[in-house]
Amino acid sequence: MSRKILVTNALPYANGDIHLGHLVGYIQGDIWVRYQRMRGNTVHYVCADDTHGTPVMLRAEKEGVTPEQLINRVHGEHLRDFTDFGVAFDNYHSTHSPENRSYAEDIYGKLRTADLIDTRAIEQYYDPVKEMFLPDRFIKGECPKCGAADQYGDNCEACGAAYAPTELKNPYSAVSGAKPVLKTSEHYFFRLSDARAVDFLREWTRGSNTLGVRRLQAEAANKMKEWLGEEGENKLSDWDISRDAPYFGFEIPGAPGKYFYVWLDAPIGYLASFRNLAGKRNDIVVEDYTDAVRAEASDTEMVHFIGKDILYFHALFWPAMLKYAGYRTPSQLCVNGFLTVDGAKMSKSRGTFITARSYTEQKLNPEWLRYYFAGKSNGTMEDVDLNLDDMIAKVNSDLVGKFVNIASRCAGFVSKRFEGKLAEVDAQATAEFSAAWAAGSIAACYEERDYSRALREIMHLADLANQYVNEHKPWELAKQEGQEARLHQVCSTALTMFRDLTLYLKPVLPVLAARVEAFLAIDEMRWGGEWQALPSGHVITAYSHLMTRIERKQIDALLEANRESLAPVPPATAAQDAKVVSSPQRHAEKQQHSAQSAETASEQISIDDFTKVDLRIAKIVDAQHVEGADKLIRLQLDIGETDTEGKPKPRQVFAGIKSAYDPATLIGRLTVMVANLAPRKMKFGMSEGMVLAASDPEGKTGGLYILAPDDGATPGMRVK
Ligand code: 2FM
Ligand code: ZN
Repeated sequence: MSRKILVTNALPYANGDIHLGHLVGYIQGDIWVRYQRMRGNTVHYVCADDTHGTPVMLRAEKEGVTPEQLINRVHGEHLRDFTDFGVAFDNYHSTHSPENRSYAEDIYGKLRTADLIDTRAIEQYYDPVKEMFLPDRFIKGECPKCGAADQYGDNCEACGAAYAPTELKNPYSAVSGAKPVLKTSEHYFFRLSDARAVDFLREWTRGSNTLGVRRLQAEAANKMKEWLGEEGENKLSDWDISRDAPYFGFEIPGAPGKYFYVWLDAPIGYLASFRNLAGKRNDIVVEDYTDAVRAEASDTEMVHFIGKDILYFHALFWPAMLKYAGYRTPSQLCVNGFLTVDGAKMSKSRGTFITARSYTEQKLNPEWLRYYFAGKSNGTMEDVDLNLDDMIAKVNSDLVGKFVNIASRCAGFVSKRFEGKLAEVDAQATAEFSAAWAAGSIAACYEERDYSRALREIMHLADLANQYVNEHKPWELAKQEGQEARLHQVCSTALTMFRDLTLYLKPVLPVLAARVEAFLAIDEMRWGGEWQALPSGHVITAYSHLMTRIERKQIDALLEANRESLAPVPPATAAQDAKVVSSPQRHAEKQQHSAQSAETASEQISIDDFTKVDLRIAKIVDAQHVEGADKLIRLQLDIGETDTEGKPKPRQVFAGIKSAYDPATLIGRLTVMVANLAPRKMKFGMSEGMVLAASDPEGKTGGLYILAPDDGATPGMRVK
């Protein structure tokens, strides 16, 4: 019987770019959706931008635009990135939408009726200058345990201590720098500690989907046990679902100046996007998927793909909210781990915080990444490591060396010698292929999201196909008299094997598979029915090359494009580049976090202090080793100055960058210098300024990165 499934991916925040860390979960979701559709199941696949909250509000302010303008722009960027990576949502909507407001109000109203909403007075830090309450991540100060400066309001990056913001010493607002004051206001709570919710969640945790697959992976079910406590115990706290103005979000009905916390309406955005989709189509009855009674009767499913950092929201608050508002609850959560790159957290200074945009701009093929991520996805919550050399090796050997190679070695003969017409295949040679189809184990791997095993089985078949071609050597048969029929059969057989492999790879490589369908002149491949060879007499089209190899230099260029060298980042902040924030309280603020940390890491200065520094675009017109100096390079910097005769008069600057740069590679580059630094007499001559460089002790090339302006800047331009 065919299934009817509403599938979602976590909604990305509308204040940041999509990066490869995001794409792990999106690609996993998209592969599953494509597989389900190939099976003939009905799938509605939706997502949206998660637009509300303080970080979006402040980001818009910083950019000098309205939050609406910001989220509109980001919406376009996110959708473009997903589309580029083949993540093909049926609808990409927004939580700042009428559908979402209406669902949020409805759910909230029903929770009130069910007596699950409470109000309580809460005392919190307030920024008297910005006139706003401060989320924990926007309060900084000295750690109450170890005294480290500039620590966030909830935990210390230096010693790991967790505390309340009120425990910080010398707290200040990361927004305005002001000293925060304590202020009381009324907050709204969802009473998750209610015995009904706890009982329900225990039962929900144990559930399965329509195929009997457990609704939660083993690790997620264990987490639930930890959160819910032993039978009879109740460890859940009520959930604060309101925030005070100013806040970018939906005002709570009947509560002027109070807004729904971003995490209240974020998952509701799944339903909003789905309703919006239904509005554009005439074949979807929304309530069959969303209403508790109707969903049960119509046997629909709702499956969420999420990252492990947001399990708490999806496994506790979300099902409980839905349940007591009379909505259907999630059938299944598919939780993925975090991404590391070359075994370490993604890092802006190393260039491994790779944006989706930069990947496509560098002309890397998104299907390379889809294939690699699939090979690393086994349906568990384990972290995924993107090992760049391994990715190159896998793609080149599996996809180009094994898969594409089968077609490229056989197709030409069929076109040139047999007018594109296929012969009867060798049934003995394809026996393992038809048996694999009948066994259905590759399908089972996709169903369980163990794509890694699926690809291993597929590559085993690719090896068999290559062995077959190697044994029969069509290129030799082609030269031998009287071997026409054999040549014809070998090539036709290999192409049927190739067709099978393509079908199996199609959920992972949809673009490549579509090209193969065109080349083989076959209908869109589906999953099901009896195995059949490509029929004798079938005519294929001319083969054209299907996929190129990845070169290491392309990956190096990608890393270079993502390497950030904005400011001398202190080591402590560099290490936090892609910090994982898992506590639900501070989750919504995390996107703002890395940007904030670099900006607020040092003592604050006024704009007047800053404008005292005369920063100029400088052209390096000469760079030389300095005899007897280990670290220095002598630079001649043109900042548009001339001598009395009007001839260019570059400044001489000694820069301590020898560990990172070969002088010859610097000549001709533009950089940024401090032009009004008092000249300094050094052992080797006068130094008349300073160049700026970012530093990272762990980084490559000596860990120093001089700055470079964007195209268009010219020597002497003021930097401010
Ligand atoms: O963690 C995040 O990036 C959130 N924006 C995810 C929200 S998922 C859903 F609940 F909307
Ligand atoms: Zn500390």
